Amino acid sequence: MNNLRNQLFYKFALVVFILILIFEGAMLIALKKSFDTHLKDKLALVASEINPKKFTSTDLINIQHKYKIFPLFVNITTANTQYLKNNIKLGFFINKTSDKKEKIISYITKKNNYIIKISTFYSTNEDKIKIIRTISLLISFVIFLIVLMLGYKFIDTVVTQIEISFKKLKNFNSNVSHELKTPLAIMKSEIEVALMNEEKNCDKTLHSLLQEINYLNDITEKLLFLTKNDIQNCKLTEIDLEELILELYEKYSKKIHISLHVDEDEEYIIKGDKTLLKMALSNIIENSIKYKALKIDIILKKTKNKIIFTVKDNGIGIPKEKLPYIFDEFYRVDESHNKEIKGFGLGLSIVKNILKAHKAKIKVKSERGVEFIIEFPLKEVLNH
Ligand SMILES: Nc1ncnc2c1ncn2[C@@H]1O[C@H](COP(=O)(O)OP(=O)(O)OP(=O)(O)O)[C@@H](O)[C@H]1O
Ligand SMILES: [Mg+2]
Repeated sequence: MNNLRNQLFYKFALVVFILILIFEGAMLIALKKSFDTHLKDKLALVASEINPKKFTSTDLINIQHKYKIFPLFVNITTANTQYLKNNIKLGFFINKTSDKKEKIISYITKKNNYIIKISTFYSTNEDKIKIIRTISLLISFVIFLIVLMLGYKFIDTVVTQIEISFKKLKNFNSNVSHELKTPLAIMKSEIEVALMNEEKNCDKTLHSLLQEINYLNDITEKLLFLTKNDIQNCKLTEIDLEELILELYEKYSKKIHISLHVDEDEEYIIKGDKTLLKMALSNIIENSIKYKALKIDIILKKTKNKIIFTVKDNGIGIPKEKLPYIFDEFYRVDESHNKEIKGFGLGLSIVKNILKAHKAKIKVKSERGVEFIIEFPLKEVLNH
């Protein structure tokens, strides 16, 4: 990953460097052009002011001072032949002088029957351009350093995120492999023993194989569910949570004592996917049953902008320091804590994902037993 970080950084630095070079070049060309255009505009203005019929040396001095062009040469001739009239080239002309830094710029124009030629020395402004170029190079260098620093920070954050995701994926894969490997190894050894003993009555083996197959089936279903992308894009319709709770009561009241605390005068309508929600809430209730609760309290409350659904049990509870991890994939509280209770550590990850798709928040507390508190936004809040 450090390699990726460096590669991205070098490429980024190269692109920024090339961009700054292009910018510097374009700026220089624009600068030179702007000096030229400025002088050309002035010469054209001078020409428009000259009256060729009565142009005196005083006019010349006045114009020189007005436009601040020193020296200024004005040459007026009459275009008295047809040849001159047709063949004289009008416009701007730049001629070299013996001094490399200086050129002569001339503007030739026709006014009535006169040809006016205005010339002046034109310095290529190399000195001025050099100063501006040095300053702009310095500024560009500082900008280059700042952009590099910011770019490095950005690349570092992105690559760190990729690293975290990569680690998670690796962990996930190794957990999946581990979970699949154990039942497969058991199945393999059961079959090998059965074959070696040439068992006639293989009921026991078949029973044990079936158990492992059920286990594999269960974990594959949970894994498939977790990797499905469409949970987050599920279609939400109006659901009455009170109705859903009654369905859950029907389903689980034979297995555990359930006390319902619901204010019947209130309406508990949210937007959601009923099957997914039932799956999430079932996972929570099944955990209570699994982790030795004798009774659970289900409480529904409505506030100004949310509905709070609480499931409180009196089971073995969860140590406080482990609470932040219980929604992580494959996380199970210390095996010694619930050694004999089987599970993959995927149930609450599924709950977390389903609730995320419902824009609901889940909190957990554990003092005596465990308390899960889910906050659903009201359908009106979701609509906004
Ligand atoms: N009601 C509860 N009482 C005590 N511990 C709980 C309770 N609910 C969850 N836990 C703890 O949190 C862990 C994660 O729960 P989760 O439902 O994700 O996994 P699991 O029950 O072990 O396996 P499964 O994937 O079959 O649900 C459990 O292993 C358990 O240690
Ligand atoms: Mg569970």
